[in-house]
Amino acid sequence: MGTTRILTGITTTGTPHLGNYVGAIRPAVAASRTPDMDAFYFLADYHALIKCDDPARIERSRLEIAATWLAAGLDPERVTFYRQSDIPQIPELTWLLTCVTAKGLMNRAHAYKAAVDANLAQNEDPDAGITMGLYSYPILMAADILMFNAHTVPVGRDQIQHIEMARDVAARFNHLFGNGRDFFVLPEARIEEQVATLPGLDGRKMSKSYDNTIPLFEGGARLLKDTIARIVTDSRLPGEPKDPDSSALAMLYQAFATAEDSAAYRAALQDGMGWGDAKDRLFHLIDGQISPLREHYETLIAKPADIEDALQHGADKARAIAAPLLEQLREAVGLRCFRSAPVKTGKVRAEKPAAQPGFKQYREADGRFSFKLADADGRLLLQGAHYPSPHDAGQRIAALKTGTAPFPIAGEALGIDIDAASVSAALAAFTEA
Ligand code: TRP
Repeated sequence: MGTTRILTGITTTGTPHLGNYVGAIRPAVAASRTPDMDAFYFLADYHALIKCDDPARIERSRLEIAATWLAAGLDPERVTFYRQSDIPQIPELTWLLTCVTAKGLMNRAHAYKAAVDANLAQNEDPDAGITMGLYSYPILMAADILMFNAHTVPVGRDQIQHIEMARDVAARFNHLFGNGRDFFVLPEARIEEQVATLPGLDGRKMSKSYDNTIPLFEGGARLLKDTIARIVTDSRLPGEPKDPDSSALAMLYQAFATAEDSAAYRAALQDGMGWGDAKDRLFHLIDGQISPLREHYETLIAKPADIEDALQHGADKARAIAAPLLEQLREAVGLRCFRSAPVKTGKVRAEKPAAQPGFKQYREADGRFSFKLADADGRLLLQGAHYPSPHDAGQRIAALKTGTAPFPIAGEALGIDIDAASVSAALAAFTEA
């Protein structure tokens, strides 16, 4: 098969800056264009609610971020691009996973521990101001990933622990309910080693929390230029040699230039290029690449309904995968349709006795649902037809269990060397039970 499913979420708080573009958006768009990559990118707006209780900001940020990704070249036909909150199966899966997640595992999550430590440092109650959303954050993230059985999850270093937790929870669910099959792929984190971490205005890592960011589209070329002018440099004058290795300008330049152009820029600094000229060259380099995207961004953001359409299209694609898997998971944990339940009177037995014929429902390679009837020794008696849902397959099983439904119907087949009489005998066992 050979395709790798790659999935990542973007928490929708704030407005994207240059560091987000270089560190996440640009590589993700490039990855989505690689052959054999089945990319799932989504707006983690449920996650945003954990950090932000300002509805206007949530609304604004998810629109801006959606427009940014589309403007940066994401093709919603090729990629599955959606909002987390448009997929109701995600919170539903979150609950199934919550019920198998050890509380102790969540106690060890970095974000929660950091919040506790901050409280303790202030002599506060350890859990002061900590919501269950923050505490359970890794389970929601696990559901994001497992819902689509992603193989690879590109994330920053701070998120590696969450991927490990997702693996842990997935393995536990598989073990408890898989009955020999794995519902979930165990995802792998991918850290983009070669992607630059951009320095901000003060030379530290560009980050909203340091208030040192350079805007991506916001404020246009004008604000880009003004912000670049505020990048801190040393006091060396034009003509004096500058050290490119300690210059934020050189690092920013490198993130947008070819190796040759970057080397030429560094050489020019060593040869005494003034900081003003250096900033000018940097601005022209970045703006040259950003301005076509910015124009696209302005067009998109002026038509939110078109963005909505693109996201709805993505949500349709995502739900088409999430819904059938969730049905199987519900079935696996025992949230089953009563119509297909065996009719029992008296006390419910804890364990089915071994020597009984039995139906087994499962998913076919074509994605549809079927069943097998096997005898007490596990020999195949009757192979079911393919159905669009587990519920349909279950209904056919229920009909057979009455002992009066005709078989084999179209799509069904008797097992090798099995005659209709042995199937009838096995079915009679269900009527008696
Ligand atoms: N927690 C991630 C972050 O803050 C965002 C995120 C949410 C995510 N769900 C995800 C990333 C699933 C990867 C996969 O960066």
